[in-house]
Amino acid sequence: MKSRKIIGAVSPSSKFLAKKMLEGINFNETKVIVEYGAGTGVFTREIVSKMAENTKLLVFELHEPFFKKLEEEFSAYPNVFVISDSAANVLKHLEENHETHTDIIVSSLPFTNFETNLTIRILKASERALHKNGSFIQFQYSLNAKKLLSKIFEMKSVQFVPINIPPAFVYTCKKK
Ligand SMILES: C[S@@+](CC[C@H](N)C(=O)[O-])C[C@H]1O[C@@H](n2cnc3c(N)ncnc32)[C@H](O)[C@@H]1O
Repeated sequence: MKSRKIIGAVSPSSKFLAKKMLEGINFNETKVIVEYGAGTGVFTREIVSKMAENTKLLVFELHEPFFKKLEEEFSAYPNVFVISDSAANVLKHLEENHETHTDIIVSSLPFTNFETNLTIRILKASERALHKNGSFIQFQYSLNAKKLLSKIFEMKSVQFVPINIPPAFVYTCKKK
């Protein structure tokens, strides 16, 4: 039950959702990318195939079996760091990887299943972690998170992706 709550999805995201999550990223101009909640790696694989050679990718995954698989799959990529810790600790891990900020955060975290305090802690840490002009890109299965995201970030767009199980909304936010 606990794992199900943490994972927060019935199946991995579709290619359509992956495309929508990543289409606004200028991969030639990103030095650091952070991913929260990589799961089975649907977005991670796309990011790795698109990112420039010298871009660093920090991948957070809390569920141990997913973490182990991701760690194995990306072990040959020197710029991909798979981290078995909560996204709430993003600032600590940026520092440990000799970075102060990230250009992009791609998040699949199931905020609907989280205590509000944890969501706020993650969003505030993310806002601090973002570079000026950085983007926070999040998908959710409802519009519930819109109000909270708009308090912490500048909301740029909300896009509906019908071809996904369940259909999803992609929020693109900027640092205020
Ligand atoms: C909805 S799934 C998304 C998986 C994948 N990105 C996809 O779209 O198919 C959310 C993932 O977030 C992970 N997760 C939940 N809470 C987390 C946290 N605080 N920090 C990092 N990962 C977390 C879960 O283990 C799960 O794999």
